[in-house]
Amino acid sequence: MLKVSNIEVYYGKIRALNSVSLSVKQGEIVTLIGANGAGKTTVLRSISGLQRLEKGKIEFLGKDVSIVPAENLVGMGLAHVPEGRRVFPGLTVYENLEIGATSWRKGKACLSGDLENIYELFPRLKERSKQLAWSLSGGEQQMLAIGRALMARPKLLLLDEPSLGLSPVLVEQVFEVLHKINGQGVTMLLVEQNAFMALDIAHRGYVIENGRIVLTDTASALSNDSKVKEAYLGG
Ligand SMILES: Nc1ncnc2c1ncn2[C@@H]1O[C@H](COP(=O)(O)OP(=O)(O)OP(=O)(O)O)[C@@H](O)[C@H]1O
Ligand SMILES: [Mg+2]
Repeated sequence: MLKVSNIEVYYGKIRALNSVSLSVKQGEIVTLIGANGAGKTTVLRSISGLQRLEKGKIEFLGKDVSIVPAENLVGMGLAHVPEGRRVFPGLTVYENLEIGATSWRKGKACLSGDLENIYELFPRLKERSKQLAWSLSGGEQQMLAIGRALMARPKLLLLDEPSLGLSPVLVEQVFEVLHKINGQGVTMLLVEQNAFMALDIAHRGYVIENGRIVLTDTASALSNDSKVKEAYLGG
């Protein structure tokens, strides 16, 4: 579904990604774990066309998308939940979800099925559908950000630290929902600092350090890897 081959990204003269390659197969949850500043967000931004590549190639569904503008990728089935719960603060929960639907499904009748599904995944959002997004709690905003991405019916969902700043109970809830969404057929590339939770729901994973992929394996092998344990799972 996704193939990233030897990409390099620079910020000015600083190389942020150094020959990064990774792949995601249909149906998988693949996690990318690494410390602050390792390059995780840069990888996701590169995939969704928000970052210029110096070198390398990105293929999505067999098509070279290295030069496809970001706004066209959504229509192809790629959705990105960026770092930091970006919602439209002045719009209601319902309006935020409505905006997530791609333009060919703007009609109310078309939306209702998708809305029902999202409200079922996140009952909190249903209760608060008329509430303005700025007044939601942090966790509710994160749910809304994920819900909005799902409204585009993505084939591949890119998630940048969905658990950031959430209480342990909410983290569990968000991960449970991600697991469910995957069960509904949505493939995922999940960036997380909460490596333990990420490896728990993922099939495979990659470890990134200083802009380089240093390790890749099945999620269970990574969970048992002594280096991963020491660096990312708290010993
Ligand atoms: N717009 C930018 N201009 C200059 N340097 C940048 C920019 N964005 C990121 N960087 C640098 O690139 C490196 C990788 O950043 P990136 O945001 O991809 O890391 P990350 O793994 O997502 O970190 P975190 O876990 O803190 O979110 C960092 O050293 C960062 O300072
Ligand atoms: Mg980041």
